[in-house]
Amino acid sequence: MKKIYKIINSKNKKKLVCLTAYSKPFAKILDKHCDIVLVGDSLATAMLGMKDTHSVNLETMIQHGVSVKSNLTNAVCVVDMPANSYKNINQAKKNAKLILNKTKCDAVKMECNGKNYKIIKSIVDIGIPVMGHIGFTPQYFKKFQAQGILKVDKNRLLDEAEKNQKAGVFSLVLECINTAAAKAITKSLKIPTIGIGSSVHCDGQILVTDDMLGLSGFYPKFVKKFVNLNNIIEIGIKKYKKAVLGKKFPNKKNTF
Ligand code: KIV
Repeated sequence: MKKIYKIINSKNKKKLVCLTAYSKPFAKILDKHCDIVLVGDSLATAMLGMKDTHSVNLETMIQHGVSVKSNLTNAVCVVDMPANSYKNINQAKKNAKLILNKTKCDAVKMECNGKNYKIIKSIVDIGIPVMGHIGFTPQYFKKFQAQGILKVDKNRLLDEAEKNQKAGVFSLVLECINTAAAKAITKSLKIPTIGIGSSVHCDGQILVTDDMLGLSGFYPKFVKKFVNLNNIIEIGIKKYKKAVLGKKFPNKKNTF
């Protein structure tokens, strides 16, 4: 809980650095640099090759949650509740407890569909910290669309943000929300907003690590590729291939 309060208290003091991780090697590196590490259900598309995030199940999220959390010491570990795992209060409570007990994560993330505030609150009420998520919420949208451009949509999102805060979420992901709307939401809330494609005005930023490292092949407008790991990996693979074909590997040093 201390870590969660630290995140809440960072509002208006420091920007929050957040990224996703699904495995031990990434968790170890991210722990040195991030305030929050999210085991996102983007695991489905970024790592497991599924066509959307709807297909990843609870068991798989937990498996990756264990791998990530057991390699974090400093960062807050949040695990996404996958699609259809929190359709009603009883199911949500059962599954949130399972995620927490098995992974030992600090919090879960739940996407908001504009109706599920009571479900979100029921998880907060049993003492499990929840990160909210509004705007473009992939579990509920079929087609990508930026959010909050029209005044009615901006007002709807302001209302959703307010209701998430009232339900008790400790932070709120704003996904692909127009700049003016994201700025207004951030100003209106006491809890930090974490933007993805939602402008510099948010209290923190998150990206899918595989996207920003140039690994996933998914580079929409809001993703900046900070390095091209695909190229770097290919350099290594080509060197290996050349060494194997040329009978230069393994050499004496690599054999017994
Ligand atoms: O699943 C995920 O990685 C997410 C982030 C993009 C916020 O929800």
